[in-house]
Amino acid sequence: MKIEYHKSLKEYNTFGIDVTAAKFVQITSESELKDILLKEVQEPLFVLSGGSNMLLTKNIDALVLYIAIKGISIQEESDSFVLLSVNAGENWHDFVQYCIKNNYGGLENLSLIPGYVGSAPIQNIGAYGVELKDTLVSCEAINITTGKKQLFSNKDCQFGYRNSIFKNEGKGKYIITRVIFRLTKKDHILNTSYGAIKKALADKGITKPTIKDVSEAVIQIRKSKLPDPLEIGNSGSFFKNPVISKDHFFKLQRSYPTIPFYKVDESAMKVPAAWLIEQCGFKGKRWGDAGVHKKQALVLVNYNNATGKEILDLAKRIQKAIKEKFDIFLETEVNII
Ligand code: EPU
Repeated sequence: MKIEYHKSLKEYNTFGIDVTAAKFVQITSESELKDILLKEVQEPLFVLSGGSNMLLTKNIDALVLYIAIKGISIQEESDSFVLLSVNAGENWHDFVQYCIKNNYGGLENLSLIPGYVGSAPIQNIGAYGVELKDTLVSCEAINITTGKKQLFSNKDCQFGYRNSIFKNEGKGKYIITRVIFRLTKKDHILNTSYGAIKKALADKGITKPTIKDVSEAVIQIRKSKLPDPLEIGNSGSFFKNPVISKDHFFKLQRSYPTIPFYKVDESAMKVPAAWLIEQCGFKGKRWGDAGVHKKQALVLVNYNNATGKEILDLAKRIQKAIKEKFDIFLETEVNII
């Protein structure tokens, strides 16, 4: 294990923000991780995975542990299902493509999400009607203080919309090292309810889609709307879609009859943050190198050399405008560091 000093993190976060880590080490096995936790007990630590859901606003004055533990193995299988054990440092999209190639169903709607497998449970990644929690059996994590391994069942993870125990009482306490998935080998349960997926399949004349067809449809939709982090720095949706009370929603609907919505339950509605942001005139706007994506208003972008602070200032301006116009507070989805 080689410790590097004053290392630039520009290549390690999808926003492409150029801050430095005081110390940086790449971890390629669980034993390396345990060793470093034993050796560096006094050191403040910062755990880095795919860097796809964070906005770095300052240099990291800590030892950055870059979790690059690779490997996929079959734990158990039958004619109809497979239990896959996947190490935290596997690239998420490459893993989904591995599943498609092997005809393992369940993750196809989550194609092309940036990041690594180990951080997927933290915010219960989701897209097009599917969330990680639908296929995750359990995950293993190292407790940073004790150095001991802990197993979290699906229930233990306390998953919610872009939420889990690892964002709440478990925050900063664990390093996820492995995730176990249960995927189908036949009779796949496809979720093609999302309008854009239906349309993409119909356009191709596909009536009996395979998991590969669904994955390709999702890839096509994402590529048409979302910027590729390798070309324009971004972290996907910057804010969560807010959930508001029905009373609040009906009041807004009287003033804005076209406001889109999804019913959450008898008393609450979810509204797309992208719509709120677009209504406030931010879509496609740019200030220096910080901007709001022209095709998806929920995505903030770094065109080149924006600082984390510039992106954060823009996010705050958006939050303020939406609070004033709609009386809604937009919570960030991205972790602000
Ligand atoms: N809309 C606008 N303006 C825009 C874009 C969208 O008004 O510029 C409105 C439209 O009414 C549209 C609605 O917002 O129908 C929803 O838009 P979209 O389908 O693009 O989804 P989203 O709610 O903006 C969420 C997730 C995405 C996920 C998509 C598809 C959150 C915070 N984001 O976005 O996840 O890919 O649904 O399921 O829940 C991510 O988490 O990083 C992410 C990209």
